[in-house]
Amino acid sequence: KFIKKGGKMSKAVVFGSFVVDLMARSPHLPVPGETVKGSYFKMGPGGKGFNQCVAAHKAGAEVTMVTKLGRDAFGKVATDTMDRLNMPKDNLLFSDTEDTGIALILVDENTAQNEIIIVPCALNTITDEEVKGTEKLLSDAEYVLLQLEVNQDANEKIVKLAKKHNCKVIVNTAPYSPISEEFLSDVYMVTPNEVEAREITGVEVKDLESCNKAANFFKEKGVEIVVITLGEMGAYVSVKEKSAIISPYKVKAVDTTGAGDAFNGALLAALTEGKDIFEAVKFANAGAALSVQKYGTTPSMPDRREIEDFILEQNKK
Ligand code: RIB
Repeated sequence: KFIKKGGKMSKAVVFGSFVVDLMARSPHLPVPGETVKGSYFKMGPGGKGFNQCVAAHKAGAEVTMVTKLGRDAFGKVATDTMDRLNMPKDNLLFSDTEDTGIALILVDENTAQNEIIIVPCALNTITDEEVKGTEKLLSDAEYVLLQLEVNQDANEKIVKLAKKHNCKVIVNTAPYSPISEEFLSDVYMVTPNEVEAREITGVEVKDLESCNKAANFFKEKGVEIVVITLGEMGAYVSVKEKSAIISPYKVKAVDTTGAGDAFNGALLAALTEGKDIFEAVKFANAGAALSVQKYGTTPSMPDRREIEDFILEQNKK
């Protein structure tokens, strides 16, 4: 089941962020100047890159994490988590001067909506040398998945190196920050959410027609596959002349933080097995639907068995 049609399951790399998430839940999100008494606090592993890598790993992918940590207690949260999950740590980078990044996450316990501030710290200091150090890893991988939480010049160099080795680049354009046309021209697949799609393309995505318009923006720059996550509407996919919106699984969300990461990680895992993009997106929708039913980010990523059982259960309905 885990084997790619006609051959071996391919390898993947996630190049991106690890931060420690400091998460508080409260009856409503504070407005500027307001102090709100919270009901729950949790500190734990997070960062879009790390969440996505854990999601892909738990979904069955052979995936390696490249991220940059400080030599501090928060960095140990990453290494302890990787030990617990049996993930390879050989490609972790360390800063001798900067701290491990953090994110402050506020979750509204009634609506499950969130607000996040991320402070990248060490993640802003990935050097050319450190990027070069990933060359062997990229040459062995079919996919590398990036986000926009590290210094963008490092992402730009990774894209060039990946291209040299025919490693396909997937960019989850989160959180929104400006990206160049040149960067996009070497990207195989983008996975913005609806807000990022609007910010990058200028198109308000709300239905198939507007999604097609936004997808054309990316395709004109050279991107082959466009996936736009649309929250409660599901996910849009466009490849060659074919496009569709794949409906989501309907579940009761308690915390939507990290849902996009669960989606991207499961998507990556499905692609390394050779699933076509429409099947992969259905699998990713299931990953996201499971993650929103649990609190937290990295800890809410489902494993393979949970995803498969969930899909079987949903198909009976
Ligand atoms: O996507 C959720 C993640 O975004 C959190 O884990 C937080 O660290 C921020 O990077």
